[in-house]
Amino acid sequence: MKALITAGGHGTRLRPITHTQNKHLIPIANKPILNYALEYVSEAGIKEVGIITNREGEEVKEAYGDGTSFGVKITYIPQEAPLGLAHCVKIAEDFIGNEPFVFYLGDNIIVGGIKRFIDEFYEKKTNCHLVLAKVKDPERFGVPEIKGGRIVRVEEKPKKPKSSYAVTGIYIYDKHIFEAVNAIKPSARGELEISDAHQYLIDHGYKVTYSEITGWWKDTGKPEDLLEANRLVLDNIKAEINGRVDSNSKIVGRVVIEEGAEIINSNIRGPVIIGKGTKIVESYIGPYTSIYNDCLIEHSEIEFSIILERCIVRNQNIRIEGSLLGKDVRIIKSNEKPFVNRFLVGDQSIVEVR
Ligand code: DAU
Repeated sequence: MKALITAGGHGTRLRPITHTQNKHLIPIANKPILNYALEYVSEAGIKEVGIITNREGEEVKEAYGDGTSFGVKITYIPQEAPLGLAHCVKIAEDFIGNEPFVFYLGDNIIVGGIKRFIDEFYEKKTNCHLVLAKVKDPERFGVPEIKGGRIVRVEEKPKKPKSSYAVTGIYIYDKHIFEAVNAIKPSARGELEISDAHQYLIDHGYKVTYSEITGWWKDTGKPEDLLEANRLVLDNIKAEINGRVDSNSKIVGRVVIEEGAEIINSNIRGPVIIGKGTKIVESYIGPYTSIYNDCLIEHSEIEFSIILERCIVRNQNIRIEGSLLGKDVRIIKSNEKPFVNRFLVGDQSIVEVR
């Protein structure tokens, strides 16, 4: 079995962060999203992995190289433009050959990995195995219609969903998926839809089976999804203190403090992760916060947030909550008079003030 992982696409729903960074490299609990996918396929015993990148793909290539650090061999497959998920499969035909494969959307995070689904694919001797999850907002996803325990229809982002399930971004196929992706036509939004490929398989008598995810699964398409995924991953971390914590600081609950981080006269209430080289001074860091490497948080309070590398947050009278700060962001108190608020905010940023 091989694996095909997506790391291309538009990333428009995660702007402004994705103006300067591929969304798959945004850290969740201080680990790029794509690391999770690579860990799952490696744990499942897969050795050959294709990664779909956008046209240049440099950022992803630089991050993962030949895949040795994950125990896999990576082949990069550039996509000329984001022409749809079925297009990703189509351009990977030479790489996959005749073998069955896992198609994994690189922006999905799931607890418990994917090996169990691969086992079901083999047990059920199926052509296509889909992984479903119950969701509150099925209209955002591919949605199956299920009759008598069988999927009879799959619709992409339907206005009136026929079930409360989403087809998640984990699919296992045999070679017949290539017949489907080569036969379907682009949808109204100009993409080759993976849901249409699934419908093709159903209509042409191929066996399409499914399993339901019992734990949690998250598609990290929107900023609030990132915060939620971060919360879910942090809920499963084990406390580990490798950095320096001074005697005036209080650490409560599951907290990871990475090497070279310093906590000075501060109160950290887990689950929290503090990255390498980050300094927390006279501050409060509350539950479900990930602060990445080389940040400085001073005289401030942060909770339920993701802070990317090299941010500076200093002398804040307000508690920062439910926030996502990109790289090198500075939120600092101005000492100049008159006392005004000054913003230097990039395109498509969101600032909510009291
Ligand atoms: O997450 C599950 C959902 O993923 C499914 O329920 C939907 O049926 C499926 O179409 C897909 O919907 P999204 O709207 O979430 O797909 P998105 O455009 O966000 O792309 C998913 C991943 O694939 C992401 O890693 C970006 C990448 N991608 C996407 C497209 C369209 C590519 O690499 N190339 C592409 O052309």
